[in-house]
Amino acid sequence: MDKIIIQGGNELHGEVPISGAKNAALPILASSLLVEGWNTFHNIPDLVDIRTVRKLLKSLGVKTEGEPPTVRVNADQINNCEASYDLVKTMRASILVLGPLVARMGEARVSLPGGCAIGARPVNLHIKALQDLGASVELKDGYVEAKAKRLKGTTIYFDITTVTGTENIMMAATLAEGTTVLKNAAREPEVINLAEVLNSMGARVSGAGTDMIVIEGVERLHPVEAGVIPDRIEAGTFMIAAGITGGDVKVMGCNPAHLDALATKLRATGMTISLIDGGIRARGKKTITSVDVKTLPYPGFPTDLQAQIMTMMSVAGGLSVITETVFENRFMHVGELMRMGADILIQGNCAIVKGVPRLRGAQAMATDLRASASLILAGLAAEGKTEISRVYHIDRGYQDIEKKFSLLGAQIRRVAA
Ligand code: UD1
Repeated sequence: MDKIIIQGGNELHGEVPISGAKNAALPILASSLLVEGWNTFHNIPDLVDIRTVRKLLKSLGVKTEGEPPTVRVNADQINNCEASYDLVKTMRASILVLGPLVARMGEARVSLPGGCAIGARPVNLHIKALQDLGASVELKDGYVEAKAKRLKGTTIYFDITTVTGTENIMMAATLAEGTTVLKNAAREPEVINLAEVLNSMGARVSGAGTDMIVIEGVERLHPVEAGVIPDRIEAGTFMIAAGITGGDVKVMGCNPAHLDALATKLRATGMTISLIDGGIRARGKKTITSVDVKTLPYPGFPTDLQAQIMTMMSVAGGLSVITETVFENRFMHVGELMRMGADILIQGNCAIVKGVPRLRGAQAMATDLRASASLILAGLAAEGKTEISRVYHIDRGYQDIEKKFSLLGAQIRRVAA
């Protein structure tokens, strides 16, 4: 298995291009199950998770052609409505085929994802909402089995804001009979991107980006040519990298409006964050001021940047309290950061981070996607050599990560172990 080796201490300087958003590309690729004909999607990132969803679509009988950034998908012939455990266990977002399959085919059998490194992450809200739309759902042998002749529009209230839950049900409701209202819907930019793609397919979705989404069902949708928004989490990771190394990085091709919560926090740490033509310029300082951070659904501070900001706080001048409210157990990176010299105490869903002058390079192990990114940041800021194993996690969500950091002057390389 590959390892990433970093010789820390370099300030990062230069420009980095941001790829398409993984979390928008996954539901958009799944939405092609709703239509007959060839869809063309642009700005698809080249990631393991994208390969997994394409494998999943192929296993359903869907044709997919081309290589990222442009991928074509044709779901004329769906000859299997089952998403197997093998595929779902490697990527929880596979659950996104459930809604479209039931809507288009009247049935779906999708493996339950099970637990994962960042908590239980159930799919009960997806299931309850599908039942509200009139599907009969059974849990059998570790699979969700859903059936419906035609889904029927209704009002659905999500107890907890769920991103993929909102996306799954929004897709299902496009082909339902009548109007569906999603209340307490997720407001993430990726939800808006999906709604726009669905609307260009002929769906009638309004309100995406607010907590109430209204979907008027239509009889059929048509294929589209559409694009994926830039990845705000990748962009945010590079902005934090500028901060933690005291560098000056132009993050190109991102959408600054999606990064307000992070930009506000980074400014409070002393960084200069400015809008430039085509992106954001992030300039760090020699000293970092501690800030408190609380993760929240969008437009709050993203949980997917919690591990990265924690790494930055671990070398800040003071005490920072980081509160994780979206996922339980999303502090797997803490143990690894402490092995690199960080001083962090976990109290329930809070991490109390006492800044130290410097981290020290060490051998570390990636535990999940965003935790891996935080270890790379730690390695970049640390004195000496850091060796990160289990980097397959990072390949799920960051395209060409070591190449992009090298472009900025980092000493980082991948070795096959
Ligand atoms: C998505 C993102 C992930 C991000 C997360 C939160 C994708 C592919 N992944 O994950 O990167 O970290 O949003 O921004 O877009 N919950 C339930 N029951 C459910 C569904 C969710 O209790 O049926 C809970 C979860 O356990 C969690 C919270 O709701 O505590 C939010 O999770 P959710 O928004 O669903 O995360 P994902 O969509 O899986």
